[in-house]
Amino acid sequence: MVNLNLQGRNALVTGVADDGGFGWAIAKALKAAGARVYLASHPRVVGIVERILRRGQNAEARALPYGLEGEFQPDGLFGCDVEYDRFEDIPEEKRSTKAYKEGDVSIAGAMAQYQALSEGAPLDILIHAVAFSPEIQKNHLETSRSAYLTAQSVSAYSLVAMTRAALPLMQGRNASVVGLTYVAATRMTPGYGGGMASAKAALECDARALAWFAGEHGVRVNLVSAGPFPSRAARSIGDIQAMVDHTAARSPLRRPITAEEVADATLFLCSPLSSGVTGSILFVDAGFHVMNAL
Ligand SMILES: NC(=O)c1ccc[n+]([C@@H]2O[C@H](COP(=O)([O-])OP(=O)(O)OC[C@H]3O[C@@H](n4cnc5c(N)ncnc54)[C@H](O)[C@@H]3O)[C@@H](O)[C@H]2O)c1
Repeated sequence: MVNLNLQGRNALVTGVADDGGFGWAIAKALKAAGARVYLASHPRVVGIVERILRRGQNAEARALPYGLEGEFQPDGLFGCDVEYDRFEDIPEEKRSTKAYKEGDVSIAGAMAQYQALSEGAPLDILIHAVAFSPEIQKNHLETSRSAYLTAQSVSAYSLVAMTRAALPLMQGRNASVVGLTYVAATRMTPGYGGGMASAKAALECDARALAWFAGEHGVRVNLVSAGPFPSRAARSIGDIQAMVDHTAARSPLRRPITAEEVADATLFLCSPLSSGVTGSILFVDAGFHVMNAL
């Protein structure tokens, strides 16, 4: 029997805003493997995710992968804005808006929510599938300091902050943290602006540092570097389909990747099958990263 059974394991998945991104595919794969899955979504999209989860509609989106019977329902869903470590960090004017006034939607608040909903269960898996730049459509030269720093804060530093907050719950569990990166971290990728390439470079550096510090507690930290995929976030970059087609034509496999392939690789990194793997970047990009083709 192959050891991909995650029964009895608990997963916290960030970055689910709808049923069209990597976070959703990963959450479903973890559930299909038997894990209990908790979603920590941006406070402004919790309502959207709730609608997708409503039974009686969207059954196709919720269907479990791997030909399994049944549909995806998380074991908990709550708001988390990863830009804020603690409640006090959330600006007053934001705290009073509809999405933020339900409670503490900081990272600390999300961890408390997880503990309350899971009745104090330890945490085995943390998925970081979050990225944002307010100026994603501006090229690197035109990007403002403020947008650059926001991209770093939301897309990279949040992995450090979330790992730090989760670590006390993960110790002694052979736990696994997985984040999502993109080849633009190391190769100039026109069109991937707003400071996002720098944020991914920082994320990759951070994952190596976190692998060292979390490794002391037996916790692994890895990244999946995905090929371009037309998620909601990617569509805001601009002509994502042109990026997908361009990459597909120049990849060894001559085709685009799917969200399910990213989820499969993530599942591997969360499972005992990868127990000796940490600090790694696993490319799920149809091989594009080995090419020297423009
Ligand atoms: N789509 C691609 O082409 C591609 C390629 C490689 C890597 N990635 C990475 O995959 C990950 C998931 O992105 P996706 O493409 O599936 O898009 P997506 O839109 O489904 O996910 C991005 C998520 O980030 C969340 N988010 C943004 N700011 C946040 C904040 N302050 N607090 C909490 N959540 C916040 C959004 O709500 C959304 O759920 C990201 O790290 C992205 O950079 C995407």
